[in-house]
Amino acid sequence: MFLAVSGCSREQLDSIIMNTEPKKQGPEEFGGANYYDKFFNEVSNRSSMTKGTSNIIALDALPKDPQGLTDWTGAVVKGFINPKSSLDPNVVDEPPLNLNIFIEAKVPLMANVLFPHSIHTYWLSCNNCHPKIFIPEAGANPISMDEIFKGEWCGRCHGKVAFTFWPRSNCTRCHIILKGESLEKERWR
Ligand code: HEC
Ligand code: HEC
Ligand code: HEC
Repeated sequence: MFLAVSGCSREQLDSIIMNTEPKKQGPEEFGGANYYDKFFNEVSNRSSMTKGTSNIIALDALPKDPQGLTDWTGAVVKGFINPKSSLDPNVVDEPPLNLNIFIEAKVPLMANVLFPHSIHTYWLSCNNCHPKIFIPEAGANPISMDEIFKGEWCGRCHGKVAFTFWPRSNCTRCHIILKGESLEKERWR
């Protein structure tokens, strides 16, 4: 769609946006487990169709996050985009890996973190993260928020090319499991 609309006026683009009913990718495309229902509802509810926050007009057509930047996860799960993994038409898309990692935030009150392999492996391959950034073993990496803010661990991408830490409503995109819900962590797998 975006190749097709490049070069139109803002009015034409607006009318395309208003009249496009995106095809949602339901949780079933990503495994259908409870966590995915919850995750997809969360990310869908959180994104909004704010306009004019970027000087790239074509990005107005995509959902925005609380900071006003393009919400790429929302764009995928709401069906606005469905990128191919390769320009080569013979390459078959690998399905995303459905593996959620529960990471406890080691302070009271701060909600725990859920790392979804699904949306990451939708864009990235295993060796973008393993083994250089993360040893592929739950709990094996001494991750801390301090180091993330300094650009280590998740901060290798988040805060740079993936969604950033502020405003505070962005914290809960990673810190999604309230401490009180953590006993049911199997539910989030
Ligand atoms: C990209 C994902 C991500 C985002 C966004 C994020 N965090 Fe974290 N946070 C983590 C991970 C992973 C940990 C590691 C859990 C641990 O070992 O404590 C963590 C840990 C923490 C901890 C526990 C203590 C520590 O230093 O490890 C606090 C407090 C915290 N984060 C606060 C915040 C606040 C406040 C924000 C928003 C400004 C935020 N986080 C945004 C991923 C994230
Ligand atoms: C964006 C980064 C990223 C990508 C890409 C990624 N992983 Fe991971 N992976 C992680 C993190 C973070 C953990 C948890 C590490 C921790 O808890 O300390 C993890 C953990 C794992 C684990 C350990 C699970 C367990 O229960 O011990 C396996 C296995 C794994 N990944 C396989 C893969 C495979 C296979 C791919 C590609 C299809 C992949 N990962 C892509 C970040 C990534
Ligand atoms: C190699 C790059 C990379 C690393 C490392 C990485 N992420 Fe991400 N993450 C992304 C990209 C790209 C997206 C898609 C959304 C975007 O672009 O903002 C994403 C999306 C997410 C989402 C989906 C929710 C949403 O609202 O978009 C969560 C949750 C998340 N990351 C948590 C983490 C946590 C926790 C870590 C560290 C344990 C981490 N990520 C490490 C690249 C990365």
